[in-house]
Amino acid sequence: MEVSEHRVPRHIAIIMDGNGRWAKQRGEPRLAGHEAGSETVRCVLNYCRDAGVRYLTLYAFSTENWSRPQDEIDGLMALLGTFVKKYGADLVERQVRLRVIGRREDLPAEVRRPLEDVEKETAGFGRQLIIALSYSGRSELVRAMRHIAEEVRAGTLLPEAIDEATISAQLYAPDVPDPDLIIRTSGELRISNFLLWQCAYSEFFVTPVLWPDFREEAFTEALTAYAKRDRRYGGVKSSDGQEAPL
Ligand code: FPP
Repeated sequence: MEVSEHRVPRHIAIIMDGNGRWAKQRGEPRLAGHEAGSETVRCVLNYCRDAGVRYLTLYAFSTENWSRPQDEIDGLMALLGTFVKKYGADLVERQVRLRVIGRREDLPAEVRRPLEDVEKETAGFGRQLIIALSYSGRSELVRAMRHIAEEVRAGTLLPEAIDEATISAQLYAPDVPDPDLIIRTSGELRISNFLLWQCAYSEFFVTPVLWPDFREEAFTEALTAYAKRDRRYGGVKSSDGQEAPL
């Protein structure tokens, strides 16, 4: 990869979009698009490892996705279960920590259990794959506000002591740095309730490529575009704030 490693994002978050359109273009059922999308997940994990990206967050299922037809939901849940059973051992071998963010209590037990087993097995590793499941940025913030309100009610937190760090500390994965780069596939220019607090200073990269087709060329294009961005965080000086890759 030709991207300078000093400009590699520490944390990439991806809105994986376009599976349905990919399937439709081929006259196949939507689930065929999600299956092809799972294969892209595997590839992107490899690209991230090779590029030295430490955190990868994937938006796999939003709280709004529960309104899809039941057979698509069942198919997606089955795919997730298969993915974790098939690649869980790979994650252990590659020393990648798996984490789930979102309303995990909404997930069927046969998906949640293997995910949590792999989460436990990989808890000590530094490089991370974070899967957003039954996730919504607004729900994450509501949950955080409730925890903070409870502390205020208990008298352990003064309202005037609440700052940005207080809120960040109540998110699903408080120790994970904010995403440096958010990628959205399939061309839509929307954030779709993803990482609403964490995206404050993220760089955005939108590609028309559909998620199942998002392979090395498209990934490199995103990293190259990121490397050229001048991140000012509202100020005037360039800053990359990088952490050494593993
Ligand atoms: C959006 O495409 C994609 C999803 C809602 C599901 C993403 C899931 C996967 C890639 C498979 C499994 C994930 C993991 C982590 C193994 P869409 O269906 O909204 O596409 P469309 O906009 O073209 O209809």
